[in-house]
Amino acid sequence: MDITKLQDLFKQMTREEKIGQTVQLTGNFYDDDTAAITGPMKEMNVSANDLTRVGSILGGTGAADIRRIQDDYMKKNRLGIPLLFMADVIHGYRTIFPIPLALASSWNPALFEETAQMAARESATAGVHVTFSPMVDLVRDARWGRVMESTGEDPFLNEEFAKAMVRGYQGIDLEKDTTRLAACVKHFAAYGAPTAGLDYNTVDLSEHALRENYFSGYEAAIKAGAKMVMSSFNTIKGIPATGNKWLLRTVLREEMGFDGVVISDWAGINELIPHGIAENLKEAAKLSLEAGIDIDMMSGGYLHHLEEIIQENPEMETLLDEAVWRILLLKNELGLFENPYRGADEAAEARELFNETNRKLAQKAAEESVVLLKNNGVLPLKTNEKIALVGPKKETQDLLGSWSLNGLESETQSLAEVLEQAVLIEDNEVFNGLNSYKLSELYTADKIIVALGEDSFMSGEAASRSNIQLPKNQLLLLDELKQLGKPIIAVIITGRPLDLSDVAHQADAIVNAWFPGSLGAQAIADILYGKVNPSGRLTMSFPRTVGQVPIYYNRHTTGRPFTNKQQGEKYLARYLDTENTPLYPFGFGLSYATFSYSDLNVSKPTFTKNEEITVTVSVTNTSDRSGTETVQLYVRDHVAQVVRPIKELKQFKRITLEPNETREVVFQLREEHFHYLHPDGTWSSDPGSFELMVGPNAEMTQAVTVELIRE
Ligand code: IFM
Repeated sequence: MDITKLQDLFKQMTREEKIGQTVQLTGNFYDDDTAAITGPMKEMNVSANDLTRVGSILGGTGAADIRRIQDDYMKKNRLGIPLLFMADVIHGYRTIFPIPLALASSWNPALFEETAQMAARESATAGVHVTFSPMVDLVRDARWGRVMESTGEDPFLNEEFAKAMVRGYQGIDLEKDTTRLAACVKHFAAYGAPTAGLDYNTVDLSEHALRENYFSGYEAAIKAGAKMVMSSFNTIKGIPATGNKWLLRTVLREEMGFDGVVISDWAGINELIPHGIAENLKEAAKLSLEAGIDIDMMSGGYLHHLEEIIQENPEMETLLDEAVWRILLLKNELGLFENPYRGADEAAEARELFNETNRKLAQKAAEESVVLLKNNGVLPLKTNEKIALVGPKKETQDLLGSWSLNGLESETQSLAEVLEQAVLIEDNEVFNGLNSYKLSELYTADKIIVALGEDSFMSGEAASRSNIQLPKNQLLLLDELKQLGKPIIAVIITGRPLDLSDVAHQADAIVNAWFPGSLGAQAIADILYGKVNPSGRLTMSFPRTVGQVPIYYNRHTTGRPFTNKQQGEKYLARYLDTENTPLYPFGFGLSYATFSYSDLNVSKPTFTKNEEITVTVSVTNTSDRSGTETVQLYVRDHVAQVVRPIKELKQFKRITLEPNETREVVFQLREEHFHYLHPDGTWSSDPGSFELMVGPNAEMTQAVTVELIRE
């Protein structure tokens, strides 16, 4: 719609109609009258009449339902303003891709873009307009269940993946391209840093920490054009994000320049009451509108109280107007005034959902996400080997992971099904149905695959764990299997970095498969048999024990740093009972190929502000099979005005090398790469020396030193 027409329409709106635009309810309010009246409507004191005073719906239910709801609504809407439909399309809609933490292990932003585009395509045909993704919360604590939905512990990677997802969801023209969705970046801000990894717990970070590490993922998504931002449940500088004016107006709007729609998280406005900063829902609604929340997701605060709040505080009318105008602009950008059903189309839905192209991409994504953590030569399997498959995850279809609301386990094959097929094709033998009580049946096997891990409900929202080992019975099974003296290959299904110390001790190979999605089992099988060479690299450190958590590679240096050479010294930053290092570091992952690094060089040992430096390293595939390596470049600032991380990832390159091939990998660094947050709040560099480290992961690097000099 032409902007002047939109302005005319806005002028015709009554205050009641405007308030309606700021209200979001779930789709089941519109399901069936009786169910709705006795269920959610009663709980939230919503009348049938109120249902016509709502601006958006949460929870996509398919093209037919969405068309029906929109149709009914439009008939009752005086000005013909359509509803917006939003949903959690997090890692796929019906075709489920690996969980985001898994997909991040691909270190492949283009893959994120591709999967986001496909998820948009599927869900847009099912009537969704906005996805509550990307989630870019920086995470450092594997006890927190929502690490599964994040892309890990590194700000730079988070930014790259955030941008890629926004591009994939939104494309370049949301009005014309109805196969795309508007993206809602969440959870602003720092929802990934709850104390002790407990979901919904206090976040207590300094402003310096927020700005140094936590804000950049959201900002990257915003700069890439994300249309919406969701506020987080947690506190920021002591005030819950949903009622935090500094966060939503100063940081988000003024500093980051965000001009789109801000939505609360589910009942986030209501939560200001138990948080203890509002006495009742009316006060919570007032604080939230003042803070900058445009849409109230499922608290009823705006629906029930905005009218009265504005009557009592007429100066707040402008805040309502601004919020509504932003919502109308978004509806207009999506082309809803001309086409309220947008992509919702039952025929297209039937064609698109879980079709062959989508399944192929899901398999490719799973292949790139799997991380081989250990291999003492037992993998890949040979087709003439007799393989026993055991463990609680061998027949599970629970491979999709949390936030896969429209994915179907019935469409997901288990490892047993897939390996059986592989055996038929490969003329191999698979044993099924073995458990720790029938160990005698394993004796004829050459190798044992044991499929272990978490159930999907053990990670995701409200799924914090204080113990991040495998369940006890799984560790016992592993112990028993070890007694057989046969090679053991552990396949791990998980939504978080687990403490795998016991597994590393017992197993000859560990394949960390995460929740790999709809085609995950096929991808695992192809990796086990070497049809696919694993290439995943961790984006979150795996601890040796939960006591090390939060553990992350880019930690600050301390006044008493500990290195391996100081084993006999006590008064250092070290544990008495374990190493400081993780079991598997950030950036780590094995391949069936092996790589060596040599000839690390810089174009010049000193550089000035306007000069670029070129860093080169030769990487050789020293094996007889082709493989993909992720070459990582880290930087350390030796002396600065504030304490700096011991290393920070600045660039990486994924390269595929043929057997015995050597390639020179080239990185270009500019002065901006050495910027950091100064005590006065500015980002810049200081002259001095920097260490440039290159290697296959954060622990195994070679270094050269360069110096930034004044011109
Ligand atoms: O998008 C989610 C959010 O991440 C957690 N609370 C509910 C929202 C809507 O489902």
